[in-house]
Amino acid sequence: AARDDAFKIGLILPMTGQQASTGRQIEAAARLWMAQNGDTVAGRKVRLIVRDDTSLPDVTRRLAQELVVNEKVDVLAGMGITPSAMVTAPLATQSKTPLVVMAAATSGITEASPYVVRSSFTLPQVSVALADWAPRNGIRKVVTLVSDYAPGIDAEKFFSQRLLFNGGQVTEALRVPLRGPDFAPFLQKVRDARPDALFVFVPSGAGAAVMKQFLERGLDKAGIRLIATGDVTDDDQLNGMGDGALGVISSHHYSAAHPSPLNKKFVLAFEKANPGLRPNFMAVGGYDGMRMIYEALKSTRGAGGGDALLAALKGQVFESPRGPVYIDAQTRDIVQNVYLRRVERVNGQLYNVEFDTIEGVKDPGKSR
Ligand code: DHB
Repeated sequence: AARDDAFKIGLILPMTGQQASTGRQIEAAARLWMAQNGDTVAGRKVRLIVRDDTSLPDVTRRLAQELVVNEKVDVLAGMGITPSAMVTAPLATQSKTPLVVMAAATSGITEASPYVVRSSFTLPQVSVALADWAPRNGIRKVVTLVSDYAPGIDAEKFFSQRLLFNGGQVTEALRVPLRGPDFAPFLQKVRDARPDALFVFVPSGAGAAVMKQFLERGLDKAGIRLIATGDVTDDDQLNGMGDGALGVISSHHYSAAHPSPLNKKFVLAFEKANPGLRPNFMAVGGYDGMRMIYEALKSTRGAGGGDALLAALKGQVFESPRGPVYIDAQTRDIVQNVYLRRVERVNGQLYNVEFDTIEGVKDPGKSR
């Protein structure tokens, strides 16, 4: 008898609402991967089913349930923010469905289900490098400003502990709401506190508002440096931030300006397929996540099956547009280079230009 033989990937993303740029980037990257690599793997047709969760975790849960029960998807993927990933994790466990987390970046997500595999990054992974760089560059007193939810708490904790270890100090730890944040009153507080630097984490899409308020409140003129995770100097928005962003130092795992031949090809193909859109770190998480799923399906010779796919997702080693990576078989997290970058103007456009590399960084959130 004929069966519905398609291998189904249920890609749940925020396509509308505050996190919409994450969905737009990841969907574009997933479609680019399929355009470049075909929609047949080991003789099996691959079907991508995209659903918009508007970044509300109750919606994510309902969509994930529908995709598993009605569509019988072979893999769940996407997950624009941590709360979405956390509500989906128990479903992945119960149904033995691999969940490829392409965006969300709180350390603990991979511990919420043995079926979670991550192609994005973690906030501890990228925050520590900046706390090593700062004291070597005249920055001792720092105020932190993070979005008040799990990845923000991760960034605040791992940055401040490492800074303290290095002889610096966080003098004030500010947290702003995730939904509809108003940065102005927080930045006024920072101006009054006059630290050497302000360290910021906000999720993708909120960076431009922070930058605008930072400059409007004159924090730069008050001699306060802005240092941040690369979520703030997001390639999706950076070019629109203006000259005020020049010189901002950030640490992250991906820059569209990463100078490898593979990345140059990736950026060119992405921009050709999506005029006016520059790929950011979300796009690379989506692109690599698709590669991981394709490779896993190949390993099972097209047969699939939750446990077989999971086994084939663990331990993958490959070159990403971000640089060399592997999926740690124990933690199911991605191990990758972390780069220190400075915002510079290149060929008339603003980019995060890498000036230092910390190689093969594991998530420090797992090492205790
Ligand atoms: C998360 C979301 C983001 O947009 C980001 O840049 C980092 C982390 C999250 O919710 O995990």
